[in-house]
Parts: sequence; C-alpha cells; structure tokens
Amino acid sequence: MSKLRVGIVGLGHNGFAHAVTYFHHPRADLVGICDFDPTKTAAFKAHVGAGDEVVAYTDLDEMLERANLDVLSVNTSDHLHAQPFVKGLEAGCHVIVEKPMGNTLDDLYLMTEAARKSDRKTMVGQILRFNPFYQEVHRYCASGQMGQLFYLEADYIHNLHEQADPSRINPYIGNINWYLEHEKVLVGGCSHQFDLLRWFADSYAVEVQGYGNSIAFPAMKHPDCMCCVVQLASGAICKLTGAYGNVGPRPDFNNLEIYGTRGTIRQGKVYLGEGHDNVTVQDLSDREIEGHPYEPEIEHFLDCILNDTPPLVDAFEGANSAAAMIVATEAVETHRTLAVPYFSR
Ligand SMILES: NC(=O)c1ccc[n+]([C@@H]2O[C@H](COP(=O)([O-])OP(=O)(O)OC[C@H]3O[C@@H](n4cnc5c(N)ncnc54)[C@H](O)[C@@H]3O)[C@@H](O)[C@H]2O)c1
Repeated sequence: MSKLRVGIVGLGHNGFAHAVTYFHHPRADLVGICDFDPTKTAAFKAHVGAGDEVVAYTDLDEMLERANLDVLSVNTSDHLHAQPFVKGLEAGCHVIVEKPMGNTLDDLYLMTEAARKSDRKTMVGQILRFNPFYQEVHRYCASGQMGQLFYLEADYIHNLHEQADPSRINPYIGNINWYLEHEKVLVGGCSHQFDLLRWFADSYAVEVQGYGNSIAFPAMKHPDCMCCVVQLASGAICKLTGAYGNVGPRPDFNNLEIYGTRGTIRQGKVYLGEGHDNVTVQDLSDREIEGHPYEPEIEHFLDCILNDTPPLVDAFEGANSAAAMIVATEAVETHRTLAVPYFSR
C-alpha cells in the first residue's frame, strides 16, 4: 500500500490532534512536525513515543526543503494560514488547511491564486461535512426531497472564555493571544455553519448584512456576538449567529433549521409533506457525533490524493465559505450591506 509523507505546521491544540491521527494512519508516514515553539513538537513526540522518524522543525522553509513531503497540513492560527498554504503548494505538496481557510479576503485571494497555479490537491478542513448527522441532512437536501430551500439558519454559540487564558499568549507570533486579537466569531466559528448551509443549498453568498456587540466577552477585539443575514445566489436566505460568551452548553444541532417547499429540518427531525399536519417525521438525532471527526476528514484527503479524485472542500469551496463570513464581519463593523466576491476555479 502506498504511503504518503506528511508534514504538519502548527502543533497547538488542533495541530496536535491532527498529528496524532497521521502518526497512527496506515497510509501516512508523519515525517515532519513544525512549530515556532520547540516545546510543542517535543511534547508531541513524547506523547506518541515517536523516534527519529519524526523530525521536529521550528522553521517551515527548512521542513519543506529537507523532508521531501507529499502532504502539508496547515494548523497555524486563523490569521497565519495563507503563507504556509502558499509555500506548501509552491514546494509541490498537496495541502490541507484548517478552517476558516483565511481570516481576510486578501488571504483568500493569495491562496486561491496559488491553488490555480498548482496541480496539487487542496482541501479546507470543514470537518462538520464529515459528521454523519450533517451528511444525512445533506442527503435529504441533495435528493430533492426537501423541495426548493428558501430559508436556512444555524449558529456557532460556544463559551470560549478559556481562550483568554494568559497561557495562550504566544511570544513567537508577536507576543499576542491571537484569539483575542484576530478571532472573528462569524469567521472562526460560523464558517463551520455557513459552509454547511451553502452545501445544503448548493449555492453561494451574494450579499450580507448584520449586527454585533461586545457585551459577553469584551476582551475580544472584534465583537464577540455577531448576527448576519446572507442572501444566496439561489434566492434562499441564511441567518447565522456567532457568539463566544454564552452561559451553559452549545445549542443542540447548532440551532440548524432548514425550510424547503416540501420539507423542514429542525431540532434533529425531518418533516416531509404538506402544511401543518399532513407530514411524515424522521428523527436523525442519533446520527450526530460529539467532537471532531478528524479520521474521516484525513482519510478523505489521503484518498483523493492516492486516487486522484476531487476533495469535497477544495480551496475554492473553502474560500467561498470563508469569504461570506469575512465580508459579514465587515458588514457588522461598518454597518453596511456588502456584496460577497465569488471565487471560481
Ligand atoms: N476543525 C475544528 O473544529 C477546529 C478546532 C479548533 C481549532 N481549529 C483551527 O485550527 C487552527 C489552529 O488552532 P489552535 O487552537 O490549534 O491554535 P494554537 O494557537 O493553539 O496553535 C497554533 C500553533 O501554530 C504555531 N505557528 C503559527 N505559525 C507558524 C509558522 N509559520 N511556523 C511554525 N509554527 C507556527 C504557533 O506557534 C502555535 O503553536 C486555527 O485555524 C483554528 O481555527 C479548528
């Protein structure tokens, strides 16, 4: 069985989990791990008991030069995705980057331009597309059983006050806590949900507007609560809220509601038929899995490389999901209605 040589840049909370998955994967050889902070790569090696076969780097250029990688996985903070993504492609790697693909439109333009010039595979880690619950919802929408979708909503409401912990200040990226400085709740959080809504509706954003406030988690530089309305090209309307300062757990199913001319999905149930009462009900709630299904996401990307098939969320799909939420943040912060650019291959 062919094995792919994998390197990972960014060994923080999320990169660590990716690295563990690659380390144990039968079709991957994890040969390089890179973080500015050498204690993070050392902690990973100690955790999995890796020997000299996994080489630790503090400089991405050096890893790309020496490690002869097939695949680069980018797990740096949201505002630092673009440079490693572009460098990976230019070095001839297939590149998978965490969601959100980028934190600004400029990042997305750079990254999609690099993807256009490259013959390598790209993928954005929109992990909820690998959750069986959302896959089942997608099957209902894509099969036509829901009729024409006219309204969709979902939220990312999650208490993330722990991100303000002083241990998150990183001396290697300008002595900042990037969550407090750069995180945008619609981009970092709601890019998960907007990517799903777009996938269900098989469409893309054309225009956005919204409101925000900084009441519940004012340590964040951008508003910690933002609500936006997105007009899709299909005619359907989406509403999303991102908020990081709530009390208690996240809402069930991230408040996903989908309304079509022949069906409704709400609180984990599918209603098909007509009107109020003449409906059949299917309960999908047992399909949802907790946490992050890293294994199927990584399995899918490795499969696409080995079998030369298109990834479910390539750089252009990922850019169209991130772009709407980046522009929605700008709409909130400038009190304007704004057009969303479309990224085509
Ligand atoms: N899929 C999900 O549901 C999910 C969950 C959590 C985080 N994430 C995403 O994963 C990414 C990482 O988040 P995190 O919480 O692990 O962040 P983190 O701050 O814990 O880790 C990022 C690491 O990258 C390193 N780094 C940054 N730029 C580098 C460079 N050029 N070279 C070497 N090292 C570099 C930093 O030193 C840091 O250790 C973010 O984009 C985040 O949004 C996704």
